[in-house]
Amino acid sequence: MDNKITFLQDKIKEAQMGGGAKRIESQHQKGKLTARERIHFLLDEGSFEEIGMFVTHRSTDFGMETEKYPGDGVVTGYGNINGRLTYVFSQDFTVFGGSLSETHAEKICKIMELALQNGAPLIGLNDSGGARIQEGVVSLGGYADIFYRNVQASGVIPQLSAIMGPCAGGAVYSPAITDFILMVEHTSYMFVTGPSVVKTVTHEEVTSEELGGAFTHATKSGVTHFACANELEAINHLKRLLSYMPQNCEDRPAPLPYDVNQNESRPALNQVIPENANQPYDVRSIIEQLTDEDSFLEVHKDFAENIVVGFARLAGRSIGIVANQPAYLAGVLDNNASVKAARFVRFCDCFNIPLLVLEDVPGFLPGTDQEWNAIITNGAKLLYAFSEATVPRITVIIRKAYGGAYDVMNSKHIGADMNYAWPSAEIAVMGAKGAAEIIFKREISSAADPEQKLLEKEQMYAGIFANPYRAAERGFVDEVIEPAATRTKLIKAFKMLENKVLNNPRKKHGNIPL
Ligand code: HXC
Repeated sequence: MDNKITFLQDKIKEAQMGGGAKRIESQHQKGKLTARERIHFLLDEGSFEEIGMFVTHRSTDFGMETEKYPGDGVVTGYGNINGRLTYVFSQDFTVFGGSLSETHAEKICKIMELALQNGAPLIGLNDSGGARIQEGVVSLGGYADIFYRNVQASGVIPQLSAIMGPCAGGAVYSPAITDFILMVEHTSYMFVTGPSVVKTVTHEEVTSEELGGAFTHATKSGVTHFACANELEAINHLKRLLSYMPQNCEDRPAPLPYDVNQNESRPALNQVIPENANQPYDVRSIIEQLTDEDSFLEVHKDFAENIVVGFARLAGRSIGIVANQPAYLAGVLDNNASVKAARFVRFCDCFNIPLLVLEDVPGFLPGTDQEWNAIITNGAKLLYAFSEATVPRITVIIRKAYGGAYDVMNSKHIGADMNYAWPSAEIAVMGAKGAAEIIFKREISSAADPEQKLLEKEQMYAGIFANPYRAAERGFVDEVIEPAATRTKLIKAFKMLENKVLNNPRKKHGNIPL
């Protein structure tokens, strides 16, 4: 037996060395951790249980039968993150560049199925040269097996993807189906076709970093939700992100202990809104005042900055926030902002995370660029996402709530549970000037002093609609509140709504305008 145990131990040691010391060294030189080091930092100490350590590929072409590494380029298994069961796969770039073979894919599929059947999150740490070139179509089949399982698991368990090296070709579609993507600056990239193909087809000269680095995807495409300075930051982000989520769609996020006797008044909020209604302010300053200290985790921070979305805690409970951002493009809704917010709302709804909307929106952004890029369809996504969400939903109208954007931003009419407005709220079809120009057009043009007349009519319209009271009279707004009291109101209202049960009509699935 002793010999057999020694043999086993030697085999484990061999597997743990992946592609060997030289390749590990080269991985470190690139500023990257190995697959196992990443798991070590991600999971609670000593909690990792590996599955399939001795799996090897079955390929025989190109002399592959003599080149085998136990594990075949991916470390898979389960462990705990802050005590919570989590499944993980971590691609090992030191073995055939982390490329995906038939057996590599089978290992990933196995833990995906376990995660789904046992209702626990799945984290993928991606670092791969793509399809195992020596294996041809079986490798492509392996990818499709993973994509299929990603879709089956979507909305059932949280799926998070960290990109920590190359992720190219069709390989990008597994992370793209998952709920959140994190990329590491300078050492990771994602693209469907790399710079050399781009050059051949479109004659564009572009580096990997420009084409698909973390900065590009965090700012231009929105493909990644987070760009992290290094791998450890990415790993810590994964853990923090997970803390706001439940284990699965039947579960609720675990609350943190919270002392309810705290003074929840926030007098600073009474001073946040500038005197002039057209002046910007940063909505994050309101979020900070409303939520538990240092609890706000912004998602898609550098993409579509005219809307702010992210997770936070309110009296220890996890909530999702969607807030118009007056500091950027006056907080208008445009194509990117609509899609960004819609996806976030749907995620929160999948996983029982209540939604808080902070509204200050002058409307949808006009122009050919917006119309030709389908603001109709994209705006409808946000409208659809809010309308179908069954989680507790609360809106606070901070200042402007104009036009279609009033309806879209979690209005009472599309199912919000509680709608508050600050005294600074302006709820109308459009801004007073535009409205006066249209409805008093003839009167203004025939006046002795048209400018003076316009001003007069503008003030008249503003007097009637630039306030929250018309909406409150109808019950579209439940209560007009002093800003300082907002946090208390929200804590009480979310508590009141915590057992909300609402089921949408039975259907196969809805048809969100994609
Ligand atoms: C087999 C691969 C491989 C692959 C890399 N390697 N990619 N082996 N299949 N796809 C191996 C290399 O032979 C090398 O082996 C080791 O991994 C490290 O690779 P290097 O090239 O030395 O590393 P580096 O210079 O860092 O470059 C990394 C790289 C490059 C940019 C990823 O290797 C590369 O371009 N690989 C091919 C990428 C690709 O075209 N993949 C197919 C994409 S299409 P040794 O023995 O020297 O250590 C695709 C379709 C999926 O994936 C479709 C799904 C629907």
